[in-house]
Amino acid sequence: MSDDVAVVGAGMIPFGERFELGYYDMIGRAYKEAKSHVDHGIDDSDVDAAWLGTAYGTLSNDAEIVSGARLSGATGLKGIPITRVENACATGSDAVRNAAAAVQAGQADVAVVVGAEKMRDKPTDEFMKTVTNRPTTRGMTAPAFFAMYAQRHMQEYGTTREQMAEVAVKNHANGTKCEYSHFDFEVDAESVLDAPRVSYPFGLYDCSPQTDGAACLVLASEDVADSYTDDPVWVRGTGNSTVPYDMTKRDDYLEAEPTIEAASQAYEMAGLGPDDVDVVEQHDCFTFTELLNMEDLGFCEKGEGGEFVASGATRLDGDLPVNPSGGLKAKGHPIGATGVAQICELVWQLRNEVGERQVPDATTGLQHNLAGSLAVSNVTVVSTERD
Ligand code: COA
Repeated sequence: MSDDVAVVGAGMIPFGERFELGYYDMIGRAYKEAKSHVDHGIDDSDVDAAWLGTAYGTLSNDAEIVSGARLSGATGLKGIPITRVENACATGSDAVRNAAAAVQAGQADVAVVVGAEKMRDKPTDEFMKTVTNRPTTRGMTAPAFFAMYAQRHMQEYGTTREQMAEVAVKNHANGTKCEYSHFDFEVDAESVLDAPRVSYPFGLYDCSPQTDGAACLVLASEDVADSYTDDPVWVRGTGNSTVPYDMTKRDDYLEAEPTIEAASQAYEMAGLGPDDVDVVEQHDCFTFTELLNMEDLGFCEKGEGGEFVASGATRLDGDLPVNPSGGLKAKGHPIGATGVAQICELVWQLRNEVGERQVPDATTGLQHNLAGSLAVSNVTVVSTERD
């Protein structure tokens, strides 16, 4: 980016079953957490614009239209433009992309992005019925969409359930080191392979859970960033790409075209490539997805995702740690909050603030979401190095 955008504050609430908090309580708390992370302090009156990323606000709440005004009510921010973004599982990171673009364009010096989702107030089956009982999905849920890609990958490249299980083992282990994680228990490969079936080849531990959560970032222009922090993390590149939701319009099920395109945009804008990335927070909505993403983000060759992950390269002590927060698998996947929370984790990692799960000497991180029926992807590259 020519006019640089910095992250100067990052905060979130612990993900999980947050029955004690309402949707708006979660938003207010995440905003407060992000403000308290701003080193030199920040006032509400400094904020020029805000974004609310929420995918199923109205469905999960049964309440009302969740507009920007709801963010105003929950945070006290007022008299500024507040925009709601919905873009399936890429909702949170796409809200960040839009906010960064506004700061870069000079429309705001300080922008706040909150991502939030309340998914546990209804039982899973009831919630999923509301979400999937539509002409576009014909009743299919996300596990079934991703399972088709997984089966095709297994057939073409010999990818195995054991390789997929390695993702669950790793991410659950990372999750035990993360105070924000939905799950804080480890799993071994045997339990992953023997778990109750959800949609072949996925069992329970191959899936991310349904989660409540909220996260918040404070972005600032290069002109004002140093009045908020001496340790900015720069948004170096963003990318987003979309294909039709209808899976019959895909050439094959061996790659997620939106990920490849969004990553290419983000790398190009950042002037960086996969070799420059030290730590990754990517969309492991299912164990297989993490393998596929490694290929599509350019970290290994097509078809080699399974071997790459099984080699241990993506563990916390590997060459390229992936999902040190526990990922969607263990930290949880509150849709609108997920992308914002992934960037929070990268910001803390690059600032050396995460203790036991710290990736040593990381200067550049990559965030990734893959949404819906693998129809939308959003990628963000952040770095402590400005260019
Ligand atoms: N991983 C590990 N444990 C899980 C889990 C998961 N994904 N989901 C639920 N559990 C555990 C719960 O903690 C609970 O444990 P407990 O009995 O010890 O308290 C138990 O399993 C039952 O939980 P429940 O919420 O009743 O599960 P469920 O059967 O309603 O839902 C899934 C299980 C896998 C169907 C649900 O997590 C799901 O829909 N996941 C996919 C989410 C998704 O598609 N997101 C979009 C991706 S793009």
